[in-house]
Amino acid sequence: MRPTQAPFPATRLRRTRATPAIRGLVRQNTLSVDDFIWPVFVRSGEGIEEPIPSMPGVFRRSVDKVVEAAREAADLGIPAICIFPYTGIEERTEDCAGAWDPDNHANRAIRAIKAAVPEIAIMTDVALDTYNINGHDGFVEDGEIVNDRTIEALVKMTLSQAEAGADIIGPSDMMDGRIGAMRSALEGAGHQNVMILSYAAKYASAFYGPFRDAVGASGALTGDKKTYQMDPGNSDEAMRLIERDLAEGADMIMVKPGLPYLDICRRARDTFGAPTFAYQVSGEYSMIKAAAQQGWIDEDRVMLESLMAFKRAGCDGILTYFAPAAARLLNGA
Ligand code: PBG
Repeated sequence: MRPTQAPFPATRLRRTRATPAIRGLVRQNTLSVDDFIWPVFVRSGEGIEEPIPSMPGVFRRSVDKVVEAAREAADLGIPAICIFPYTGIEERTEDCAGAWDPDNHANRAIRAIKAAVPEIAIMTDVALDTYNINGHDGFVEDGEIVNDRTIEALVKMTLSQAEAGADIIGPSDMMDGRIGAMRSALEGAGHQNVMILSYAAKYASAFYGPFRDAVGASGALTGDKKTYQMDPGNSDEAMRLIERDLAEGADMIMVKPGLPYLDICRRARDTFGAPTFAYQVSGEYSMIKAAAQQGWIDEDRVMLESLMAFKRAGCDGILTYFAPAAARLLNGA
């Protein structure tokens, strides 16, 4: 005898997809303007908004223009902005002294934004690549990227940013032991409330290409970053890095790049439960822009779908060049 079967499917999962109201009701994850950190590029000069050819819609702005951009971002409800300096080859040196100059354009931007747009949180970038003659995140001695001497410089850079008024320090260098060194320096200098968002699981990725154009590092970089950034084949190592950085005093952690590493985001969230961010990096942004410019994909929908993926993977927020455009869509403007 054949087992009796009901003449209808036991579960009709389509029932909960039938209307916008029901879909909204059962939706597990939501994307909101609160989820965004907006990376911006700052350069010298005044009144300048210089387009970056490999990142359509992204500009290098002089400090006054970065302040205007921060004002617009805050008005859109974007909670945080992240400052990356652009430095021409003529401003780069072997000793990277510009990195901790209190008056470098990143620090001037931090001060100016703090004064004009106090409600937006300011995140920084800590790494030597934007000041280094050879484009590396650490000092190079005899062809090697040296760890401990680099950390001394990163600590000075961190303190100069905290003095300028940064809320969140963003070490993107991948040296060993830098989080502990930065945390104790911040404590020692009376900056105990300054946060550290560690680029804990940062991979040696080809998706950073357009960013290196944006900060002027493409021509400068000699060799690759594989001795300090992670091998894309590894997952357990990412967990060890995150665990270490949290133990050394990081408040929040980041996985970078984003979409190709969503498995790492999910693992990080499930393993540590710490505030978890992903960086939708320049190459991810430019791929979407390029395909949209060709008319091959719907830019707005792909943008929002890619951002939602990070929420589904367990991220609390996303660093994304799409922040203002996504905010406008989410705000219904
Ligand atoms: C460098 C840094 C990089 C990015 C952020 N900080 C590039 C690199 O490691 O070479 C990449 C961001 C992006 O691609 O959008 N410290």
